[in-house]
Amino acid sequence: MSSASYNPKDYWIEQGKVYKNNFRYNNKFELQERLLIEYLASNIFTPTNSGDEPAEFSVLEVGCGFGRITKLLLTNFGKSITKYVAVDMSPDQIRNAKQFLEGLYLEEKAVTTVDDSKSKYDNRLEFIVSDIQSLPSTGATNQKYALVLACEVLLHVLPSDIHQVMHQLIEMSNRHVINVDWYEEELPKKIAPHNFIHHYEEIYTSNPSVKRVHRIPIVKKGILSKLDTKQSIFHASKQAD
Ligand SMILES: C[S@@+](CC[C@H](N)C(=O)[O-])C[C@H]1O[C@@H](n2cnc3c(N)ncnc32)[C@H](O)[C@@H]1O
Repeated sequence: MSSASYNPKDYWIEQGKVYKNNFRYNNKFELQERLLIEYLASNIFTPTNSGDEPAEFSVLEVGCGFGRITKLLLTNFGKSITKYVAVDMSPDQIRNAKQFLEGLYLEEKAVTTVDDSKSKYDNRLEFIVSDIQSLPSTGATNQKYALVLACEVLLHVLPSDIHQVMHQLIEMSNRHVINVDWYEEELPKKIAPHNFIHHYEEIYTSNPSVKRVHRIPIVKKGILSKLDTKQSIFHASKQAD
């Protein structure tokens, strides 16, 4: 496949069928998850914030896959999250995510259903099969989320679509947008056709409603060793501080 023949929808619908089975957790994912949780704990779900925060804290996660990051957030910050909407364009990924999250959520809120026809899932957690581009993002009735999150998703969006997709994510948030993606200053010689390096900071900054943008490289430096995932956490905030 060349990048000219990469069709994101076809590619991810096919990948969704095998993604969970083929997924191999390794020390880079471990570092990515640890730094993401540390960042969220000290910048979004801080004890100071939770005192002053409005009771409502909703999360929209796009490209949730089989729910790896969904579970991570709900395990660590579930008590502060009042609504969590997880979206993916692959029906297979959403089916796997429902399975992956089921035990956690049933345990957490001890949801009991007298009527079996009702959803077994805690209604704070909702799954939607959709691509980002088809989500409603404008109009007075559409909900905005305190945090819009995309982990390893935007690097797969075509360069021709990335501006529109990121502006849509900003529009759907009333406070924070966070994406975790591959980022290097220098383009490597070989790039897989479904991966792109986008200039996330520039694109966030070009939106007038974004007040601050941070990039946190996902790297661990030891005295004798270095683990560099070549990814960064990008955080766009719609608040001034
Ligand atoms: C590399 S996986 C990452 C999954 C998950 N976020 C994680 O980090 O484990 C990328 C996911 O994004 C989804 N995806 C890619 N482009 C999308 C789009 N435009 N809208 C919705 N989902 C998308 C794919 O179906 C796939 O499940």
